[in-house]
Amino acid sequence: MNFVQFQVAPGGCLTGQLRVPGDKSISHRALLFGAIASGQTTVTGFLESQDCLATLAAVRALGARVVHDNARWLIDGVGAAGLKEPAKALDLGNSGTSMRLLAGLVAGQSFTTRLTGDESLCRRPMSRVIDPLTLMGASVASKHGRAPLEIQGRRPLVAIDYTPPVASAQIKSCILLAGLFAQGTTTVHEPGVSRDHTERMLAGFGVPVEREGAQVSVIGGATLNAIDVSVPADLSSAAFFLVGAAIADGSDLWLTDVGTNPTRRGVLDCLTRMGAAITCHNAREVAGEPVADLRVGASTLTAIEIGAADVELAIDELPALCIAAACAQGTTRISGAAELRVKESDRIAVMADGLAALGVHAEVYDDGMAITGGTTGQVFTGGRIASHGDHRIAMAFAMAGLRASGSIVIDDCAPVATSFPDFEALAAKAGLAITRQ
Ligand code: S3P
Repeated sequence: MNFVQFQVAPGGCLTGQLRVPGDKSISHRALLFGAIASGQTTVTGFLESQDCLATLAAVRALGARVVHDNARWLIDGVGAAGLKEPAKALDLGNSGTSMRLLAGLVAGQSFTTRLTGDESLCRRPMSRVIDPLTLMGASVASKHGRAPLEIQGRRPLVAIDYTPPVASAQIKSCILLAGLFAQGTTTVHEPGVSRDHTERMLAGFGVPVEREGAQVSVIGGATLNAIDVSVPADLSSAAFFLVGAAIADGSDLWLTDVGTNPTRRGVLDCLTRMGAAITCHNAREVAGEPVADLRVGASTLTAIEIGAADVELAIDELPALCIAAACAQGTTRISGAAELRVKESDRIAVMADGLAALGVHAEVYDDGMAITGGTTGQVFTGGRIASHGDHRIAMAFAMAGLRASGSIVIDDCAPVATSFPDFEALAAKAGLAITRQ
C-alpha cells in the first residue's frame, strides 16, 4: 500500500503568489464532452490528478484518442455515435465524478460497460444515478446500489422529467449526459443549487441547454462541436490556502486565475462573513467560466451560521471551513450538510474526530456540527490525524499547523493526489512547514 504521511511543524504564515492546479470538475467535463464531440478539443490547464486521469483512461478505453502536447491535452472526438465497448471494466479509482458522469454517458451506448473503483468509491451511493438511468431505459446491475456497476446501454434512451432526491451536480450531469442520447427533451428539476459547469460547457460545445430557474433541459441528438477549453484554477483547492492565510498572522497571499463560478462561491461568502480579508481582482470570464485573482490576508474571524444554502455552494469546502471555524470567536454551526457523510469519507465524523485530536471541541449532529473556536494564539494542539484516505480532510488539517502548538501528523495522505498532486510543494512554497514521509 502506498502509505504517505504529512508532518506539519507548528507556526508560520502564507505569503506570495501561487496558482493552484486546474479545476477538477471542469477537467472531467472537458474530457467527457471532448470525447463525443466532432473534431479536436484542446484543453489547457487540465488537472493532471488521479481522478481526472481516471476519466482520461476511461475515455481512451471508450475509443477517444487523447494526447498530451506541449502543456495542452488534445482530444480527438469520435462523435456522438462513435464510442466503442471497452475491453475491460473501467477502474475509476476514488472518483465519484468519473463514475456518476460516465454512467450517464455509457447508458446511451449500444453496448455494456462495467464501472468500478476503490474501496471508498464502492461504498458510495449510486442509486441516485441508477434510478434515473433505469427510468431512461438502461439496465444497471449493482451491488445493492453501489459500485461495481454493469450498465447495459440502450439507444435511444427515453427522455425523462426528473427531480433528484438531493441537489447534486453529479446526478444532474449524469442525467443530462444520458439525455444527449435520448429521444426528446430530458429535464432535471434541481431540489437545490449545484455547480453548473455541465450546462456552461455543453453550451460552449454548441448544445442548446435550456435553463429556467431550478430546471435544466437538453434535447437528445444534439451534435457537440469541438472547442478550446481553458481550465481555471480550482476554487476547492484554493480554499485550503484561503483558510490558511486567513488564520495565520502575517499572511498575505495571492491566488491567481481562480474559478469563481457563482454556484461554487460558498467558501468565499462564508469566509467573508466570518471576517476574512479576501478581495477579488481582475474579474474576467474565461471559456464561459468566471475567473479572478484572489488576495487574502490574516484576519480576525467570528463564528457564523452555515446553513443548507451555504452548504450547496461550498459542498467540497466544508473541511477547510471547519478549520476556519476553530479559529473564529464563538460557535459556528453547520447544518443541512448530511451529504458530507457520503463523500470520500464521512466528513462530519472524520472532521469532528480530527478536531478533537487537536483539542478542539465539535458537537456532531446528523446533518452538521457545531464548532467552538478561539481567536488568539495556538488554537490547536499538536496531534495525529486519521484522514481516512480523504484528500480534503488531509489538506484541511495540514493548514491547522499554522495555528498549532505542536506538530501535526496526518496519516494516509496518498489520496491528496486525486485532486491536488502538488499540494505539499505549493504549500511549503507559500510558508507551511510541511514535509511528506
Ligand atoms: C462534483 C460535484 C459535487 C462535488 C464533487 C464534484 C462535480 O458532488 O462534491 O467533488 O464535478 O460534479 P455532488 O454533485 O454529488 O454534490
